[in-house]
Parts: sequence; C-alpha cells; structure tokens
Amino acid sequence: MSLETNKIFAAILVAGITASFSGFLATQLVHEHELKENAYKIEGVAEAGGGPAVEAKPEPVLAMLAGADVAKGEQVAKVCATCHNFTKGGPNMIGPDLYGVVNRPKGAHEGFAYSDGMKKKGGNWTMSDLNHFLWKPKWFVEGTKMSFIGLKKPEDRAAVIAYLRTLSDSPAAMPGASDIAKEEAELKPAEPAKADDKAAAGKEGEKPADAKAAEPAKK
Ligand code: HEC
Repeated sequence: MSLETNKIFAAILVAGITASFSGFLATQLVHEHELKENAYKIEGVAEAGGGPAVEAKPEPVLAMLAGADVAKGEQVAKVCATCHNFTKGGPNMIGPDLYGVVNRPKGAHEGFAYSDGMKKKGGNWTMSDLNHFLWKPKWFVEGTKMSFIGLKKPEDRAAVIAYLRTLSDSPAAMPGASDIAKEEAELKPAEPAKADDKAAAGKEGEKPADAKAAEPAKK
C-alpha cells in the first residue's frame, strides 16, 4: 500500500469513528423518555394513556344533590378550610369567605382581591358551575388564584356543594328535573359507544376462562 492510500484509509477511519462516537454521545446526552403528562397542557385534550382523545369533563352531580350527605360534605370541605372561612361575616383568608356562596355573583365577596379571570367570569355560582369549578378550578376559571387540584370524585363534589348550600340564611332551591336534564346533556361524555365496542371486542378475543366454562363438563 502506498503512503497516499494509507492516508486515505486513515482519514476514512477517523471520520467513521468520529461519526459513530458523536452518534453515541448524542444518545447519551439527549435522553428520550416519555413524559408523564403533557408538557404543554392543552385544554380539553385528554392526557396520554387516557385512550381516545375525548374532551374531559366533570361528571354531572345535580341529580345527586338531594341525596347527598351534608355531614360528609362538611368533612370533605376541611381541605378547603386552609384557605376559606365558612361562617357568616367570616374573614377572607387566602380565599374569600364562602358563607352564602351558592347563587352569589362570582368574584364578588367584599374585600377580596380576585384574579382577573374570576372577575371576568361573570354570572352567579350556580350549583352546576360549582361542580365545574371544584372539579378542576383552572379548567373552569382561566388564571384563577385558587391553587387547588380539584375534587375528582363526583360524590365528594356533590357532598361539598350540598354543604355549601346549607351555609345560607335562605338556602337555594334544590335543582329541578329540567336543571338536571340540562346538566346531563351538557356533560355527556363524547362518543362513549366506540370505546365500549373496542373494549368489548378486546375481551371477546381473550376469554379462555369463560370459553372453558361454556364447554360441557367432561365426565
Ligand atoms: C390553596 C388555597 C385554596 C383551597 C385549598 C381552596 N380554595 Fe377556593 N379559592 C381560593 C382562592 C385564592 C380563591 C379566589 C380565586 C380567584 O380570585 O381566582 C378561591 C375561590 C373560591 C370560590 C369562588 C368564590 C367567589 O366568591 O367567587 C369558591 C366557590 C371556592 N373557592 C370554593 C372552594 C372549595 C369548596 C374548596 C375545597 C374543596 C376550596 N375552594 C379550596 C383558595 C383556595
């Protein structure tokens, strides 16, 4: 081999090593890993792993209010008491006093500095709006100052709302049949049928236990 050829080989070799080493470095430096949740939260888009991307909404609770356990609601509301007072004429704390909050105009308690999002929200705190807000405060009121993750269980929200309703000189009327129907129509999950079909189909394919049970018993 001539010196010239050797040089060419050496050059190729060095280039190859450099290329593979930088590839190796790249994999070491940049770890690809799955995020536990979306880095950028997109309102209304289901999180990864949640199956089909249907808009997440709170479950309806108005139908549960009449039978809700007020004492349980008071118990659940202990998590609110870090920030809220519940007594008539009570002080504003981190959050506003909540006595008489049902049907009170939003963001209107005297002496409390509400977020712009809350001030702009408008309307009164209907029991349906409370269900939305208590499910995920930031979902319902953009930029809210209430740093609370929310009550995921519909029974908890129903109980707390039933309790809040009692904190009034003249408690609001229980929701009527038309309110209940309206809420249920509004919060109906989108396309549940397709997801059910898939789940059912999946189970059909892997049901050895049932299949065996269906066979006539051998003697
Ligand atoms: C970490 C403190 C904190 C916790 C815990 C908390 N809140 Fe709040 N809450 C706030 C703040 C702050 C506001 C004012 C929000 C704004 O201005 O955006 C607020 C506002 C509210 C409002 C609106 C009141 C109005 O006058 O418009 C309601 C209703 C409410 N909270 C209910 C609850 C309930 C029920 C719980 C418990 C399940 C709870 N909060 C837990 C801090 C908290």
